[in-house]
Amino acid sequence: MTRGWTKSEWRHKPRIQMPDYPDAGRLAEVEAQLAKYPPLVFAGEVRALKQKLGAAARGEAFLLQGGDCAESFAEFNADSIRDTFKVLLQMAVVLTFGAKVPVVKVGRMAGQFAKPRSAPTETLGGQELPSYRGDIINGFDFTAEARAPDPARMLQAYTQAAASLNLLRAFSTGGFADVHRVHAWTLGFTEGEKAERYRALSNRISDALDFMAAAGITGATTHEIRSVDFYTSHEALLLEYEEALCRVDSTSGLPVAGSGHMVWIGDRTRQPDGAHVEFARGVQNPVGLKCGPSLEVDDLKRLIARLNPDNEAGRLTLIARFGAGKTGDHLPRLIRAVQEEGANVLWVCDPMHGNTIKSASGYKTRPFDLVLREVREFFAIHNAEGTIPGGVHFEMTGKDVTECTGGVRAITDEDLSDRYHTACDPRLNASQSLELAFLVAEELSGRRDRMAAAV
Ligand code: PEP
Ligand code: CO
Repeated sequence: MTRGWTKSEWRHKPRIQMPDYPDAGRLAEVEAQLAKYPPLVFAGEVRALKQKLGAAARGEAFLLQGGDCAESFAEFNADSIRDTFKVLLQMAVVLTFGAKVPVVKVGRMAGQFAKPRSAPTETLGGQELPSYRGDIINGFDFTAEARAPDPARMLQAYTQAAASLNLLRAFSTGGFADVHRVHAWTLGFTEGEKAERYRALSNRISDALDFMAAAGITGATTHEIRSVDFYTSHEALLLEYEEALCRVDSTSGLPVAGSGHMVWIGDRTRQPDGAHVEFARGVQNPVGLKCGPSLEVDDLKRLIARLNPDNEAGRLTLIARFGAGKTGDHLPRLIRAVQEEGANVLWVCDPMHGNTIKSASGYKTRPFDLVLREVREFFAIHNAEGTIPGGVHFEMTGKDVTECTGGVRAITDEDLSDRYHTACDPRLNASQSLELAFLVAEELSGRRDRMAAAV
């Protein structure tokens, strides 16, 4: 273990993007209560995920990470969980076919509640109130009451995360995730007139499944056909909550964040000497680090040394989020810094957070074409550098929302107001998510050919 580390040490470091709770007594009560609750994940699962991410870093697997920008209390129901899980599974089948390696499935789910904000307050009609920081901290409504941080929200977030994870576990192994079922849903999408360009690939998947069934490999005979391993992740932003759910693994004697399988550090809270890096460095979970345009090479080197001192495979995932057209200015210098350190990292592309714009109609949106462009730039740069593009990270939902523009159904600026439901950033809807998976699968076929040629 990182010697001398304790789960409370972050309290002595600069604290940013976290609320100052007015009632310290109530906060302490909630923390004590959470500390008694069971962890949401088990250390053995965390270790298994780390191994899989290590494989992804070597190009022997591929990470698909996706879900809400912010989970909310109001939108919590079985249908939302099922629909997002379903689309993630569909995407995973398409990506597996393109990459010809296992796809590691990780939801931004069952814990993605706390949000960093660009300003601490928001002013509306002359009234200034604290910014909304996610349902685990305060409420979305623009009233002084809702915006006051309330520690009891952590208990509700825990309960929601536990119930979500319970359903996800049931879906993963109970027959819902059977690859034949999942592919049948995808066939529905590619039969649509506008999605015909994806039909050839989906027909090839059908052929592969038919062949396997003929050879006797079916859900009845083979566990892998019928079930999936599914993991959860979120930004470890609210450190009171993370500390309260931190547990010592009885097998290794090492601390594990019990709030989710993988946790990440946001682009705004990655100061090498800050509280968030201090907490993440001591837990054994796979850790993600968002890498935006302001990340300097020296800081990246310090962060790698702090977060992965033993250079363990699968421990550190670097999530590149520069914006379409800017990847070339930043990714090569960071890739080279990683190479200079001989650091073992998994490179993943988040094409969402660098591509947020304000539409003419006033909504925050992301054009599908920019999202796709950043993914393509990410693959092309790794190809040029001889390194491995190991995964993608999307903000998406299984619901038919209108938050990002473009895609086969060509959502326009004017359409955004129809079903704009996000509690924070705009998400790809089900159709846009699946379409993107088909396009990433094309990039992955290229990756496969290059890796084969390099052997
Ligand atoms: C996010 O993933 O929702 C987020 C806030 O990302 P970033 O830290 O990269 O801006
Ligand atoms: Co976001």
